[in-house]
Amino acid sequence: PPVDTFDYIVFGATGDLTMRKLLPALYYRYRDGQVPDDSRIIGTARSPLSREEYQARAEKALKTFVKPDDLNDDTARRFLDLVHYVSLNGAEADSTWPALKSLLADAPADRIRVYYLATAPGLYGQICENLSTQGLVTPQSRVVLEKPIGTDLTSADAINDGVGKHFPENHIFRIDHYLGKETVQNLIALRFANPVFERLWSSDAIEYIQITAAETVGVEGRGPYYDKSGALRDMIQNHLLQVLCLVAMDPPGSLEADSLRNEKLKVLHALRPIAPEDVATYTVRGQYTRGKEGDKTLPSYLEDLGQDATSNTETYVAIRAEIHSWRWGTVPFYLRSGKRMAEKCSEIVIQFKAAPWSIFPTRPEANRLVIRIQPDEGVTLSVSTKDPTPTDSLSLRRADINIAFEKAFSTRYPDAYERLLLDVVRGDPVLFIRRDEVEAAWRWADPILKGWSENKAPLESYPAGSWGPAAANALLARSGHRWHEDM
Ligand code: BG6
Repeated sequence: PPVDTFDYIVFGATGDLTMRKLLPALYYRYRDGQVPDDSRIIGTARSPLSREEYQARAEKALKTFVKPDDLNDDTARRFLDLVHYVSLNGAEADSTWPALKSLLADAPADRIRVYYLATAPGLYGQICENLSTQGLVTPQSRVVLEKPIGTDLTSADAINDGVGKHFPENHIFRIDHYLGKETVQNLIALRFANPVFERLWSSDAIEYIQITAAETVGVEGRGPYYDKSGALRDMIQNHLLQVLCLVAMDPPGSLEADSLRNEKLKVLHALRPIAPEDVATYTVRGQYTRGKEGDKTLPSYLEDLGQDATSNTETYVAIRAEIHSWRWGTVPFYLRSGKRMAEKCSEIVIQFKAAPWSIFPTRPEANRLVIRIQPDEGVTLSVSTKDPTPTDSLSLRRADINIAFEKAFSTRYPDAYERLLLDVVRGDPVLFIRRDEVEAAWRWADPILKGWSENKAPLESYPAGSWGPAAANALLARSGHRWHEDM
């Protein structure tokens, strides 16, 4: 069903995220009849563009990022009619605000307003302050904050305080697009609708867990941001810890936002701290060097950054995390993420314990549950079955029980943003991050960053197009474990 009519006001509307994700996501929701025709999407940025010029950019974005089969000319034209543009420097209390004010005043005062901040996070507080002094924060207004929320606990607190002065916590939507991914939400279904899994979901049956988000791309023109950030801040502190929370949390009492978020927070609080002195034992950081993909040479990170660049920024991280709780004991949770790796793949691997004894000529392999977040969303459970080859004894062969969701349900899997953008309009915060979660995540990440900045763990290298530094294999081998691609 359609949501209530809304005005979506995007700050940073000429940026990559708006073009690549936000506009295409709103287009799909419009196409499927969920966006009422009198809603508006108001882009704002500093560039002095006319409405027509901005609509032309939006059109180009749709042509680039929406699948051609899904793009209907007539629907696209009607969608572009919803798009407006106001040239505005949101961080400055200057004379450009009246244009936005009068545009917003054209709509009924009780219309839902979403202020989507896709600018540098350091500006969030200032933009909210300006919205408030301009009288633009109505009871029906919400604000969406893109990650990263700060670069450490102190800066995150400053941002949250700045925004919190003008919006109540239940109107602040901190987005983590991994929570909008279908298979990430499916984790909740899989775990809490199928006792067959949940009964085994603890250190009793599980040997270790891996959570991987590997990308083949490099820094893609985002060098200036990425080089200050690095993989821990860009991927682990937010996306991977959120996935970890859903994998590890206890059953929530209900699907209410706070019920779920309280359980996630308990996981974050139970994460064993990794002190700066321990980073060499529990973490591996790496940066890609030149590599090969077939005949093609892939540039190094420094080459991607540009001329004569020097940098100690990590483009790869692997961490052995533990969640100190009755359920998990010392089960390792191996987290890793990297740029320019061998494959684009985000997945969760649950490695079960092996059978305690074997009556077969060969030892059965331990069961493994792989939950694929992307691409090819699905779930695979590996089992040992009888090898059908006739022999004189009963030998075993590994086989997979496999569900590929897109095929199984013959349906398009929506992009994460499609769900999340309309959840904000609906006022449903369940897939957004509460302030205390952000803080707990930084509290765990900060000492690791400190240890690295004091060079307590070497910056390893790995060739572009590979699975990461050799030290990451050693991190697991110590406990007799292996990364999924080596199994
Ligand atoms: C973003 C990071 O949050 O997530 C990017 O800033 C990264 O560096 C992206 O490429 C990965 O998202 P996805 O959905 O492609 O796994």
